[in-house]
Amino acid sequence: MTTTVPTGVLAALLPPDVHCAEAFGAPDVGRLHPSEAAYIRDRSPRRRQQFTTARTLARRALAELGHPPAPLLPGPGGAPRWPSGAAGSITHTDGYTACAVTSTGRHLSLGIDAEPVRPLPHGVLDLVSSAEERRRLAGLPVGTTPWDTVLFSAKEAVYKAVHPLTRTWTALAAITVAVHSDGTFTAAHPHHPVIGTGRWGVRRGVLITALALPPTG
Ligand SMILES: CC(C)(COP(=O)(O)OP(=O)(O)OC[C@H]1O[C@@H](n2cnc3c(N)ncnc32)[C@H](O)[C@@H]1OP(=O)(O)O)[C@@H](O)C(=O)NCCC(=O)NCCS
Repeated sequence: MTTTVPTGVLAALLPPDVHCAEAFGAPDVGRLHPSEAAYIRDRSPRRRQQFTTARTLARRALAELGHPPAPLLPGPGGAPRWPSGAAGSITHTDGYTACAVTSTGRHLSLGIDAEPVRPLPHGVLDLVSSAEERRRLAGLPVGTTPWDTVLFSAKEAVYKAVHPLTRTWTALAAITVAVHSDGTFTAAHPHHPVIGTGRWGVRRGVLITALALPPTG
C-alpha cells in the first residue's frame, strides 16, 4: 500500500516555492506516456515500478506549477528533461519515491536523494569522502543517525542539482559536504560556485536530503 504525502517530509526540507510529491510504501502502478513506457519496457519490474511512480508524482508536482501532463524522459547523464521553465529532481529507494519541482526563475536547480537509514556498506565511505570529512563525521553526536549515509546522500543530492547545469560527471569525493546535527548540511562543488545550505531528515526508516540552488548573478 502506498501513502502519498503532497506536503510531507520532503517539503519541510525545501523552500516553500518548491512543489513536492512523495510516496511511502510499495509503489502504485501509475500511467506512463507511450514514449516513457517504451523507454522503460525492458527494465526489471522494480525499476519499472520506481520509474512509473516517480512520473506520477512528478506530473502531480508539475501540475501545481501549471504544467500540463507531458512525458518525462531521461536526458544526458540520466537527469529527467523537465518542461521549459521548470527544474526538478527525483529519488527512489525501497519504500519511498519522491519528486520536487520548481520554477527556474525561483531556483536554478534542485537535488533530492533518499537512502535507507543504515550505515554505508563497508568501504564506501572511504571511496566518496576525504580524511577531513571523515574527521568531522567522527565529531558528530553518537546516536541513531548514520552520519556516513547522511554525508553520502547529501553528496548525491548535490550531484543531482549540479549535473543538469554542467553535464559533467563529478566523483562524489570531489564534492565537499559538511553535515550538521541540526538537520542541515553545507557543500561545495568543483564546477558550480554557489551550493548554499541543504537539509536532511529521517521519516519511516528513510533518510532524505534536499537542496535548492539559488539563482546566480
Ligand atoms: C545519478 C545518481 C546520482 C542517482 O542516484 P541513486 O541514489 O542511484 O538513485 P536515486 O533513486 O536517488 O535517483 C535516481 C534518479 O536520479 C535522477 N538522475 C539520474 N541521473 C541524474 C543526473 N545525472 N543528474 C540529476 N539527476 C539524475 C533520475 O531522475 C533518476 O530517476 P529516474 O531514472 O526514475 O528518472 C548516481 O547514480 C550517481 O551517478 N552518483 C554520482 C556518481 C558517483 O560518484 N557515484 C559513485 C557512488 S559510490
